[in-house]
Amino acid sequence: MSSDLTDALLQWYRRHRRDLPWRRTRDPYRIWVSEVMLQQTRVETVIPYYLRWLERFPTVADLAAAPEEEVLKAWEGLGYYSRARNLHRAAREVVARYGGAIPDDPAAFARLPGVGGYTAGAVMSIAFGRPLPAVDGNVLRVMSRLFAVDEPITRPGTRRRVEALVAELIPADAAGDFNQALMELGALVCLPGAPDCPRCPVAAWCRARAEGRERELPRREAKAPSRPETILVGVIADGGRYLLARRPRPGLLGGLWEFPSVPFAGGARPEEALAQGLRERLGVAVEVGGLLTRVEHLFSHRRWDLLAFCCSLAPGSPRPEDREDLRWLSPRELGAVPLPAAFQKVAAALIERGAAL
Ligand code: ADE
Repeated sequence: MSSDLTDALLQWYRRHRRDLPWRRTRDPYRIWVSEVMLQQTRVETVIPYYLRWLERFPTVADLAAAPEEEVLKAWEGLGYYSRARNLHRAAREVVARYGGAIPDDPAAFARLPGVGGYTAGAVMSIAFGRPLPAVDGNVLRVMSRLFAVDEPITRPGTRRRVEALVAELIPADAAGDFNQALMELGALVCLPGAPDCPRCPVAAWCRARAEGRERELPRREAKAPSRPETILVGVIADGGRYLLARRPRPGLLGGLWEFPSVPFAGGARPEEALAQGLRERLGVAVEVGGLLTRVEHLFSHRRWDLLAFCCSLAPGSPRPEDREDLRWLSPRELGAVPLPAAFQKVAAALIERGAAL
């Protein structure tokens, strides 16, 4: 029975799969890049990043040779920047240890930075035909419906159980297509809210459907509410340029650039807290003026409420010079440093406000 299910799914995939750039190659590096980008990001968003990335870093050796800042710049806007940093470190390791050839060996590949079970399964099956499961969110949903898995998919144990179910189904001669077929079914038919069962090639084998529970599954455990944090941002202007600072590492968005910011714990007025925070962090005295903009930004586990103030150097304050972690940039030059999305919104407000480019 399971092989009929496998055949039906493969046949459907070969007829209906989307023509995506990473499906036109067997180059393991290109497949790896796509899988890392696709882990937390939608296909339509990934496509232009993927194409640009491969123009800039066409091989693993090109990526390894690039400075980290250029790598982060190419990732700018995709979020979850540790993915880019790990991919970069891993590329350097592939060059140093394996002469630039991605190892056709799941254990060796899985030892590279950032390569977890999903990435290893996806790249090894798609590039090298290795029969390993690659269970992402789409596959978890499809499989928990097909096999009426009642445990919440948010638990690691459920993922392991689903991986074992996939491993039993996976055909030795079409592992990559099979894994992608499960993902594609999740993306096109077995949708989160409203599964399109009449169009499903494996509806006949689906236990959730047989039990009328396809909309109840998968189950999830309630997520902890994301806590809002207030972040005070100083947009410090001097002679048409603005002070940008590199965020400390390790830490959220570490190594990326920002208009200098400090967390706000309450207590004082935001303007006073900002002036004091900037003095402690940068050793400058600033005058804090009006609110430039207020921006909400959502991460997976936190929410930022950004209050960006127009600031200037206080009379007599030393002007911090350009250095490794500080730069004075014109609005036009902001494009030269990797600026996370939350701060892009601040830059946009600045330009809208009429800052001279
Ligand atoms: N999501 C993760 N991997 C994918 C792939 N190879 N094709 C389409 N969507 C995906």
